[in-house]
Amino acid sequence: MSFTCRVKFSWPILRNIPHQQNIRSIATICKRSRKNLHSDYHGDKLSAVPCIAQFSTSLHLSQQETKQNIFELFDFQMKWPSEEEDAIKRDMIIIPDFVSGAEEERLCSETDKSMKRMRYEYDHWDDAIHGYREMEKIDWLPENEDVFQRLRNKAFHGETLPHVHILDLAGDGIIKPHVDSSRFCGSTISGISLLTDCIMRLKRTNEEKYKQGKLDDQPNQTLQNTTTNHQCQPAEYEYFVDVLLKRRSLYIMKDVARYKFTHEVLPTKSLFKGQEIVKDRRVSIICRNQP
Ligand code: OGA
Ligand code: MN
Repeated sequence: MSFTCRVKFSWPILRNIPHQQNIRSIATICKRSRKNLHSDYHGDKLSAVPCIAQFSTSLHLSQQETKQNIFELFDFQMKWPSEEEDAIKRDMIIIPDFVSGAEEERLCSETDKSMKRMRYEYDHWDDAIHGYREMEKIDWLPENEDVFQRLRNKAFHGETLPHVHILDLAGDGIIKPHVDSSRFCGSTISGISLLTDCIMRLKRTNEEKYKQGKLDDQPNQTLQNTTTNHQCQPAEYEYFVDVLLKRRSLYIMKDVARYKFTHEVLPTKSLFKGQEIVKDRRVSIICRNQP
């Protein structure tokens, strides 16, 4: 059986269950009750619990269930506390093949046009990103806007920033570990990876360092360069996870994954589960929500 189930629930009661199991157990409740399959589900048990984080998600279950194991795209390294591993499985969501080849072509053709006069930046080795050009864009062709609408429906509950961020990373470019500034970006960051596979590493950090009023409050930064904040102090935690971001997949990085972990994109030929991943030029198209 296949249906789309839109659910809204609070995490505490489901906290220690991996994301897919959560979705499945709620879907079972919906199926049993045989009602409101397409509307928000507010069960008594769910709404009775005080909520620390609430979100709404919409997944096509048949697709989700037939996909072998999404967690094959995760390589957990070093010793992880089990609740943090569960939190990452819940808050870092990968949706393979989110866009088709034709959509990828249309998106890249528009981003190429918009950035054709921009050069790749290599100058400041201190910057979080090396070998890149980027811009924020509001006006998109309707067919590309449709893709973003699909992304927003999938990843966000409520307002997103009006502009979409395009990051064009050269073949030899890298993104160094950083946490996005909480001054300009809310709890969710969602990006489509185009043109190449790559590895994104999430490494546990001390979230206190990135709170507003600390590193976020540095003077003389423009919006362009404060979407990122990379000034990490020496690592206090050893554990990290490598996530294989396949070409044309979508990632949704939220809550714990967004605030407690730095993210970075590894250089080409880095190893994922022992296998070399060639990262060519990569265009990522990223939506964020309001702080
Ligand atoms: C960023 C960033 C990730 C990506 O621009 O801050 O982390 O998917 N980008 O390109
Ligand atoms: Mn970032």
